[in-house]
Amino acid sequence: MSQTLRDDDGVTNPSANPDLHQVVEQAIAANPERRRLMKAGLGAAAMSFFAGEAALAATTKSAPKAAEAKMGFEAVATSTGDAVIVPPGYRATPFIPWGEPINAAGPAFKPDATNSAAEQEKQLGDNHDGMAFFGFDKAGKAFGERSDEGLLVLNHEYINPEYFYAPDSNAANWMLPFSLEKARKGQAAHGVSVVHVRRNAKGQWEHVKASRFNRRIHGNTPIALQGPAAGHDLLKTAADSTGTTALGTLNNCGNGRTPWGTYLTCEENFNGYFGWNGEHKPTDLENRYGISKDGAGYLWHTVDARFDVNANPNEPNRFGWIVEIDPFNPEAKPVKRTALGRFKHENAELVIAPSGHAVVYMGCDERGEYVYKFVSAGKFDRRNPTSAANRKLLEQGTLYVARFDAGATAGDRMGTGEWIPLVHGQNGLTAANGFASQADIAIRTRQAADRVGATMMDRPEWVAANPKKPGEVFITLTNNNRRGTNPPSSIKADGTTVAGSARPAVDEANPRSNNSWGHIVRWNEAGGEGSATRFEWDIFVMAGQPGASGERAPTANINAGNLFNSPDGLAFDDFGRMWIQTDGSYAHTGEFAGMGNNQMLVADPATKDIRRFLVGPSGCEITGITWTPDRRAMFINVQHPGEMGNHPAAPYKNDGKAYTDNDIARDPTRFSQWPVPGMRPRAATVIVTREDGGVIGG
Ligand code: FEO
Ligand code: CA
Ligand code: CA
Repeated sequence: MSQTLRDDDGVTNPSANPDLHQVVEQAIAANPERRRLMKAGLGAAAMSFFAGEAALAATTKSAPKAAEAKMGFEAVATSTGDAVIVPPGYRATPFIPWGEPINAAGPAFKPDATNSAAEQEKQLGDNHDGMAFFGFDKAGKAFGERSDEGLLVLNHEYINPEYFYAPDSNAANWMLPFSLEKARKGQAAHGVSVVHVRRNAKGQWEHVKASRFNRRIHGNTPIALQGPAAGHDLLKTAADSTGTTALGTLNNCGNGRTPWGTYLTCEENFNGYFGWNGEHKPTDLENRYGISKDGAGYLWHTVDARFDVNANPNEPNRFGWIVEIDPFNPEAKPVKRTALGRFKHENAELVIAPSGHAVVYMGCDERGEYVYKFVSAGKFDRRNPTSAANRKLLEQGTLYVARFDAGATAGDRMGTGEWIPLVHGQNGLTAANGFASQADIAIRTRQAADRVGATMMDRPEWVAANPKKPGEVFITLTNNNRRGTNPPSSIKADGTTVAGSARPAVDEANPRSNNSWGHIVRWNEAGGEGSATRFEWDIFVMAGQPGASGERAPTANINAGNLFNSPDGLAFDDFGRMWIQTDGSYAHTGEFAGMGNNQMLVADPATKDIRRFLVGPSGCEITGITWTPDRRAMFINVQHPGEMGNHPAAPYKNDGKAYTDNDIARDPTRFSQWPVPGMRPRAATVIVTREDGGVIGG
């Protein structure tokens, strides 16, 4: 089990008025361009605008759609099997696994994992994560609203070396001897894939391999650095004396999308790729972001000087950003948007606030880290969504970090909060306190947030905004086993705390000292406006076992039929269902009894009801989610199938000892053979459709 390479892993180691909705759907049917604006979260003002137009449209249209149910599916039971389970009447079809050729010229996947680095650069990367479907326009050339053909853009977060590398000559460690060729192959399996997809006449989805849009962006692809940090001394390296062009994007976790048709990929645990050879005393900046001698075990720094901080001390500063990619322009260089801050980014949920500002909500996933939002300086031009001006909205704006306060009553698991600007010269972010400029704040975002007293959270993962209620936003707090007495310790205001090492006291928004099951917090921005600096919050769900009591007790919306732990992926569909994906313990015993493999559930934000929709295969997590505009196809990702962890079916040797990574590397079909029977497990996308062709979830 390569748990060392997992992301920071704490466990194993306006009201939904149906009439309004219906007229909006009719308006969209009359002019599909409107759905793109709705996706941007235009808010109540826009809703009433659409409603007015729709009333006119409705008089000229007939045959209204049948009513769509919030949870029009049968709940599925948990499973520990090596298969994807979906409700009756649904299909789950694996698609584009790791190693598939990215285009017609790409080499075939070799089942023994002996593809070269050069070949991997022309194949789908590993460990699929965040993902977005962008429909084509009618001409099939640009961003539009088609549901039968488009670009599926997906992240490749990391690799599982036990399945990724064919065994070499060292009997004790299949990865050794390590080589630059192996490091390059690993780098090539990270990043992003752009995949041209089409639904054929039989209703099946296919990869259009001859298309010019198919593209790989990986760990060595040139990427521009833009924004306040671009060109700063801390971003300059021997290979890039201007500090304006980075090589590659890594640990691409969650994602975002913009209403101007671009994709946002989020760099999370970049620190794990770096290390040092020889002696090195880590700086405060390195400590605060978790740079360590051996990193997470990838070994790149032993063969590639770019990842040795003794040789290239500023290289880590070029990671930890949000990267914007235009999938419809295969020649365009991706851009790291430094105004959105540098931390361990989970996803980037972009909404257009009623005021017109683009607001991007972001979590920093580590124990005790913070929740952020970016508010663009400019405003979105609704009449021309893909305008040049809109495409610049992420270049400039204000970054905020959240403080969650107890509110009027302590202990009621709700309260108030404030967004604190991370702006040079404000709130102690001054030269006297060690912050020389806005660029400095952008690069050392965690330390700036320490200084202003942000609230330490239980591992902030995905953020999702309710498309039916402007200003309502949810975040998964996946789990945290380092909180409470023992004794408590906070992150120091001077930014010198080693990443993940503090152990804060419980607080109103993070009320468990050992939160092994995780929870979801909701907030509502003041006035429904995303650029507001005040909000009210409450706990939407505390996961866990219904029998638990005291601080361990789950909320009333948890029952024997919907058990889960470690919520991670989170997204709304356009109908207003909230989809929850898990990445937690699949031990299926002890405090995780009855929870089975990682899974996906649907929540109704109004009633708080939660119902299980899907269960993944052995050893995986479920992550990444997107839909065609008509919501008749849903795409999700199965990441790291076959990761042994503490799975009840993980294999044992004849001597009674559990398989190690070195054992499974030599016997790769022993535990999981998902998605292709007889072959080693491989991360893949799953296309979910309904046998009757209906909308997913309805
Ligand atoms: Fe990459 Fe926090 O999950
Ligand atoms: Ca309270
Ligand atoms: Ca995640």
